[in-house]
Parts: sequence; structure tokens; C-alpha cells
Amino acid sequence: MRTRGAIVRTAPGPYEVVDLEVSDPAEGEVQVRLAAAGLCHSDDHIAVGDSPVAIYPFALGHEGAGVVTKVGRGVSDLAEGDHVIFSFLPACGRCRWCASGMQNLCDEGGKVWMAPEVPRIHLADGGAPVGQMCGVSAFVETTTVDARSVVKIGDDLPLDKACLVGCGVATGWGAAVNSGAVRPGHIVIVMGIGGIGINAVQGAVHAGATTVIAVDPVEFKRDEAKRFGATHAYATMAEAAEIARQHSNGQGADSVIVTVGVVKGEHVGEAFSAIRKGGTAVVTGLGNNADIGAPISLTELTLYQKRIQGSLFGQCNPTADIPALLDLYRAGVLKLDEIVTRTYALDEIGQGYEDMHAGRNLRGVVLFD
Ligand SMILES: NC(=O)c1ccc[n+]([C@@H]2O[C@H](COP(=O)([O-])OP(=O)(O)OC[C@H]3O[C@@H](n4cnc5c(N)ncnc54)[C@H](O)[C@@H]3O)[C@@H](O)[C@H]2O)c1
Ligand SMILES: [Zn+2]
Ligand SMILES: [Zn+2]
Repeated sequence: MRTRGAIVRTAPGPYEVVDLEVSDPAEGEVQVRLAAAGLCHSDDHIAVGDSPVAIYPFALGHEGAGVVTKVGRGVSDLAEGDHVIFSFLPACGRCRWCASGMQNLCDEGGKVWMAPEVPRIHLADGGAPVGQMCGVSAFVETTTVDARSVVKIGDDLPLDKACLVGCGVATGWGAAVNSGAVRPGHIVIVMGIGGIGINAVQGAVHAGATTVIAVDPVEFKRDEAKRFGATHAYATMAEAAEIARQHSNGQGADSVIVTVGVVKGEHVGEAFSAIRKGGTAVVTGLGNNADIGAPISLTELTLYQKRIQGSLFGQCNPTADIPALLDLYRAGVLKLDEIVTRTYALDEIGQGYEDMHAGRNLRGVVLFD
């Protein structure tokens, strides 16, 4: 069927909203009409060329929610009319990682970056095949996806808020709760308060951290972090690290969660030097794929037993954790409504990313008609 969506034709390249053809769902696939999609920085990493992909044009968006419109053969657990969230990584449930409670590392997840064997989206009027961000393309009005990328949710939930759980919320919350192993009484620094970092703040607060220090050069972000429970907020890591030391008899933070928009080695180095003996620097943000190395004291690494922990999707198991996070929202524990600063029509997507770069949004969200 004919649809419309946001693509880049090359990288770096501008966001363009164009006519597309999307195929009917094949075996194991479903078609979804999008209701809303969050503007995560990861899509922008593709648009600016930080994260090259195997096929251009490429249809962006991965933090989406909508309604199932068609169901392919062999899909028994989803039906037309179901409300769903995309999990930005699929979970097969059968590979070594899924079977070990590490769905975020599912072998299917690696494949979404490859050129599709049978493309599901083409440019309209017989045009070129189009790649799909995370195998989903949430900035497309109607898209077809692998059913393993979809998590069914309750009809009571607002799709324009629930969409955030498919990436930003789970990634940030999990970075603190799972990867940072935040415990009651901990001192936690969250470096970079966007859609991911604000959820690391929420996660750290609810895991019982008593000192949660937000770091962001943008004043609006620092104010928002305090609304979400941060006890302190500073423009620089130097100030944050000093406060962490003051609160810990000179030791440093139990963990630093790095959720900067474009991560560089120096950010990881700052996080590493701010943690205490045996502390954890969690690296969640992405930078340029080609970047290698970070200024780390090898002596501190060994003799202080410090840890650097990468974190994909907050080390969550989407099948279990997306519904669990939504239950926390229903219970009034997890904030979602407050994360959405501005909403956009699909055609305003370029403006949305401009606002993200200018630090105007915790999260911008595209609302579909
Ligand atoms: N690991 C994963 O699974 C995963 C999932 C989603 C997103 N990400 C990545 O996480 C990162 C954050 O995403 P987002 O959508 O929240 O981005 P965002 O652009 O909305 O937020 C990033 C924030 O970092 C701040 N910042 C910039 N430089 C800083 C510095 N030196 N110190 C402190 N703060 C600084 C910015 O002001 C901004 O508020 C991106 O790199 C994104 O690609 C990773
Ligand atoms: Zn994302
Ligand atoms: Zn798997």
C-alpha cells in the first residue's frame, strides 16, 4: 500500500518526508499504523553519518506505537486492532541470549542493520528499496515489521506516551537499574539529560539513590532533571564529580551513567575518573562508529577495580520489561507524560531534530493523523 515516511537518501543527509510503498505482511510479520513516534538521537546518528547503514535510502524512526492493521501467516499472538509498541531490538525468544535472559543481545538484533533480503518498503512508483531503522521505521505512517519487534500493550494506555518505552525509557531506566546496579543510598551521576538520561534519573531515584547528580550544559535540562528527582544539577562533570566526592568522604560516585548525545572518549574518561573504587561507568550514549579509545587510567582500572559497562537497551528484556515499565506508569511511579516537551506533525520532523540539537526538548514526539 501507499504510505508516507521520513527517510534519508544518503548520510549525511536531510530528513525528507516522501511517498513510499509498504508491502503486506509476509509470514511472521505484521503491519502497523503508527500513532506516535519519539525523536531519539539514534536516528540522528544515522542522518549525520555517525552510524553508517547498509542500504540508502533509509526510513528512520524506532521509538513507535500504533495499531496492528494486518497480520501475516504464522503470527498467532497478535490480531488486527491490537495496540503495540515497537521494541527497537527484536527478541526471538530462542537464541542463546534470549534463552539466558539477555533479550537485548538477541541474535536477530544484529540483523536489523543489514540490507534486508526481501525489502518491505520501496520508494513510491516502483522506486528503490528502502532500509528500515531497527527493522521497524517508526517515522512511516504505516509500516510492516517482524512480529518479534512488536510488544502488545493494553488499550488503556495513551500511545503518544507509551511509545517512549520502546527505546528511551527502557534504555535510560535500565542503564541505571540494571547496568549501573543502583542500590539504596547510592550516589549516581547522569551525564546528558535527553530522552535517555532523564529516564536514567528516574531509574536511579526509584532504585533508592539518595544523591542523583544531573549534568547537562543546557539549563532547561538541569531544571527538568530536578523535576524528575535529581538532587543536584550542574553544567559540567568537574562540578558533579566534586559534589560526589564531598558526599562520599572523597571516594566518588557509585556510578556514572553516560547518556550524552554524541559520546566521545573524553566523556567516558570523565565518567571513569568520577567513580569510586569498585564503581561503575555505564556507557549508553553512542558516538561516531569509527571512534576508538578513551583516556582511562589503567592503574585506576586495575588497582581501584573500576568497571566500564556498556549498556544496550538498558540490558532489558523487552518482552518482560516493556509491560513491567508500563505497569509502573499505571501505578504512578514512572513518569511518561512529563517527558514529552513538544509534538510535531510528520512533515515537521526536521524541525523536531533541530529542536533536539538546540536542547529545547527532553523528548519530541511525532503524532500521526
Ligand atoms: N545504548 C542504547 O541502547 C541506546 C538507545 C537509545 C539511544 N542511545 C544513545 O543515547 C544517547 C542519548 O540519546 P538521547 O535521545 O537522550 O539524546 P539527546 O540529544 O536528546 O540528549 C543528549 C543530552 O546530552 C547533553 N550533552 C551534550 N554534551 C554533554 C556533555 N559534555 N556533558 C553532559 N551532557 C551533555 C545534551 O545537552 C543533551 O541534553 C545518544 O547517543 C543515543 O544514540 C543509546
Ligand atoms: Zn532510541
Ligand atoms: Zn533471540
